[in-house]
Amino acid sequence: MAETGAPVISHGLEGVYIAESKICKVDGSAGRLYYRGYSIDLLANNSTYEEVCYLILYGRLPKRRELDAFRKKLIEARPLPGMVIDVIDEFARRQDPMDTLRSAVSALSAYDNDMNDSSEAANFDRSVNLVSKLAGIVATIGRCRNGGGYVEPDGTLTHAENLLYMLNGSRPSQKDAKLLDLMLILHAEHSSNASTFSTLVAGSTLADLYSAVTSGIAALKGPLHGGADEAALRMMRAIGSPDNTERYIEDALKGKRKIMGFGHRVYKTYDPRAMIIKQDLIALQENESQEVKALTAIALRAEKMMIDRLGKTHGIWPNIDFFAGPIYVSMGMPIEMFTPVFAASRIVGWCAHMMEYWQNNRIFRPLEYYSGPVDLEYVPLDRRK
Ligand code: SDX
Repeated sequence: MAETGAPVISHGLEGVYIAESKICKVDGSAGRLYYRGYSIDLLANNSTYEEVCYLILYGRLPKRRELDAFRKKLIEARPLPGMVIDVIDEFARRQDPMDTLRSAVSALSAYDNDMNDSSEAANFDRSVNLVSKLAGIVATIGRCRNGGGYVEPDGTLTHAENLLYMLNGSRPSQKDAKLLDLMLILHAEHSSNASTFSTLVAGSTLADLYSAVTSGIAALKGPLHGGADEAALRMMRAIGSPDNTERYIEDALKGKRKIMGFGHRVYKTYDPRAMIIKQDLIALQENESQEVKALTAIALRAEKMMIDRLGKTHGIWPNIDFFAGPIYVSMGMPIEMFTPVFAASRIVGWCAHMMEYWQNNRIFRPLEYYSGPVDLEYVPLDRRK
């Protein structure tokens, strides 16, 4: 208790452990990240999003026939129900794509034949269905926003290839498909971040998985969380040319404005995912457009200045969202689709954590310290001055 008798409040639940988990370790001081014990660098260099989904959901790497069977389930679940396509088509041009995503996932639950079956087997099936369908929903939202219509999924394509195929209506290059698969791996899971925690809070009341995931989508939208990748690219575009970078950052810091794509509640050193994305962004420069080259130059100069000014002294380093924008620009991804793609990846983390938490469920009900008055007199309306 503080001197005033008020309890010590953990603002934003900083430093508070809400559960025990075996899914993901985020080592914020060493800048290391592990999915089920495998370091993110190993997975980024050797795995695929489908294999990482299997790992996160089932807790171990699959054997070949297990991965083939899992991939087959994902492919079979790809087609979207007609009404979900109608919801997307109706809403996509009117609102933020994350809002349409929330509505589409809610609509999807209408096609679940047994919502009352909360068994682990049923929720694993729901998880596979959601992982598969979110890619198609996100792609269809992107298409409808730009005047296109639903593209039937292609069962011969990988998860990442099919997302780009359904978004653009044409098969992606190997470069773009590989880059997107990497981005999906890097965004798949990250312990008790705000959107995963939001998913857990909703599910801890024993609401269904679609409701819990809808809560996660809502939380991911904000620019302090999943929306930072879009905000960081908007900043780079506002800077315009590399020589404007330092002046822009200086003004922002003087104005106490946050530089999106930097800082993290857990990482107090370089986010290992940001390092991987940065290296891939630098590697792809030579064949890239002038825009990507300029954005990369701006990003690298902003990174250097921010690390010098706030990195070593304040623990504010690049996070996963900072270099993501130029990578997505290089594959022609519309800026408003960055965060929906983040959701299409993180769906597997939300589902895995929800199913793990349900194994030892307890409803979340934290305390709030009330500092207002009590026992006030009720003055009738006519006597209030
Ligand atoms: C993601 O949690 C996860 O794991 C999330 C994520 C995942 O995979 O799920 O990693 C994905 O959301 C990454 C973060 C993306 N968001 C941004 O890039 C938005 C910009 N970053 C900040 O808003 C902030 O750093 C947060 C939200 C990421 C962390 O917030 P905290 O831990 O509450 O830190 P804070 O806002 O209290 O900042 C502490 C101090 C403040 O200065 P003072 O008021 O104490 O003087 O650091 C400053 C902040 O102003 N600060 C920044 C800054 N981030 C923090 N100053 C300038 N630029 C920044 N980006």
